[in-house]
Amino acid sequence: AADAQRADPRPAYHYGPKRNWMNDPNGLVYFEGEYHLFYQYNPHGDRWGHMSWGHAVSRDLVTWEELPVAIPETADVMAFSGSAVIDWKNSSGFGRDGRPPMIAIYTGHNPKAKLQSQYLAYSNDRGRTWTVHGEVLSVGSSEFRDPKVFWHEPTRSWVMIAVMAVENRAVIFTSSDLKQWRYASSFGPAGARGKNWECPDLNLLPVEGGAPGEQRWVLSINLGDQAVGGGSGGQYFVGDFDGRRFTPVDAWGGEPVWTDYGADFYAAVAWNDLPKDDPRRIWIGWANDWRYAEAIPTWPSRGIMTVPRSISLRKTAQGYRMTQRPVRELERLRSKVPISRQLSLRDEPLALPVEGGAVDLTANLALGQSEQVTLTLSDGEGYQMVIGVNPAVNEVFIDRSRAGPHFHDGFENRHVAPVDLRQGKVSLRLLVDESIVELFINDGEQTITDRFFRGSGPLRWSASARGGAATMDVTAWSIRPGVRH
Ligand code: FRU
Repeated sequence: AADAQRADPRPAYHYGPKRNWMNDPNGLVYFEGEYHLFYQYNPHGDRWGHMSWGHAVSRDLVTWEELPVAIPETADVMAFSGSAVIDWKNSSGFGRDGRPPMIAIYTGHNPKAKLQSQYLAYSNDRGRTWTVHGEVLSVGSSEFRDPKVFWHEPTRSWVMIAVMAVENRAVIFTSSDLKQWRYASSFGPAGARGKNWECPDLNLLPVEGGAPGEQRWVLSINLGDQAVGGGSGGQYFVGDFDGRRFTPVDAWGGEPVWTDYGADFYAAVAWNDLPKDDPRRIWIGWANDWRYAEAIPTWPSRGIMTVPRSISLRKTAQGYRMTQRPVRELERLRSKVPISRQLSLRDEPLALPVEGGAVDLTANLALGQSEQVTLTLSDGEGYQMVIGVNPAVNEVFIDRSRAGPHFHDGFENRHVAPVDLRQGKVSLRLLVDESIVELFINDGEQTITDRFFRGSGPLRWSASARGGAATMDVTAWSIRPGVRH
């Protein structure tokens, strides 16, 4: 009963398993009308352990159906993170009856043998049941993991990017049949370093505002600690990839560039094999931070994903920057009639007539002479999430230092994204869902993703401006639950 009281209001449109522990998204692949979301899952408890591949499917990226565990741990080997592809040409030979197999390539973690090596499993029934073929790539290391595999058309070969985690190195292999892998190149250490590099991904993204048709490769790398939000997080590099080697194009001045400036965006990876008529790249992240992931006060499950985000690049004064936008499919969950207001903000907080804990809100701000503009979400117990803009220091922030009862020292903090506010304006889009805020700044040029765990009572919204007047054009929709329970 004590546990039940700690249960958070369940997010309405963010995926989480019904019970037990979840971490990284794995095996994101689209096939025959279904988006597959596999993930690191403990079928036996609500902390990390017994790592297996859990499974959910969706027809629209918004409504998810949880399916039975896809790839369980075996006596000696846990199924760690990895990816999935559709082997259209049956290069692996695991197809059946002329239909292409779904192939999962993931890390087999064998603690007794002190070995992490890459395994292959295949499915001939749309990911419902799996046969483990076994190990396909070992370099004899205990820290070699998280293979992302994709088809590279120009070289007509399979590419795998994985990490030598402790060395902070990404390693690239190629293959013609998904079973025999050949070393191609390595990248790193570079940018931000930490105890581990984890969950790499490599995606070709269109450049908004670039030369016509310009595309660049983005290498994303996660760090187990020391990231911008204080714990685990992601950085990225922009460059070229010839099928064997990744070469960064920007000098970066040594400063890491982060995928997200909050604490709760980790291990994001992109879908393979989206429908031919869909030009998007879409990824999803685990909305958590390894510092406190096992302590978050939710029950009977621990761990949710972010919403799927469509990613691209934009050419800015600082160089190429990744942009992330919630997939447009989410707009179908919006209430028919939004609430729209134009507010003149001052010191005295103005209440916003926004209802419910699941909200999609857009705020266009003209900052005027104000020193700070804030949007505050508060519950009935005085806990609050503060989303703020500080023009003088060119910052947008989320302050969750008083965002719920204490459960971990690493949680109560403030997360800042650097944003150029010299033009006196900024646009914010907030996706709020009971215990998470995903903040998209200036049409996705930066994001801040932070969870919170509030007390009782309805969530109320207010806005104010300090040190001078500001105006806020706000439009908000309440969101209907998308997750089937
Ligand atoms: C990242 C990670 C991966 C590993 C998995 C194990 O969160 O540590 O490197 O494969 O989780 O669950």
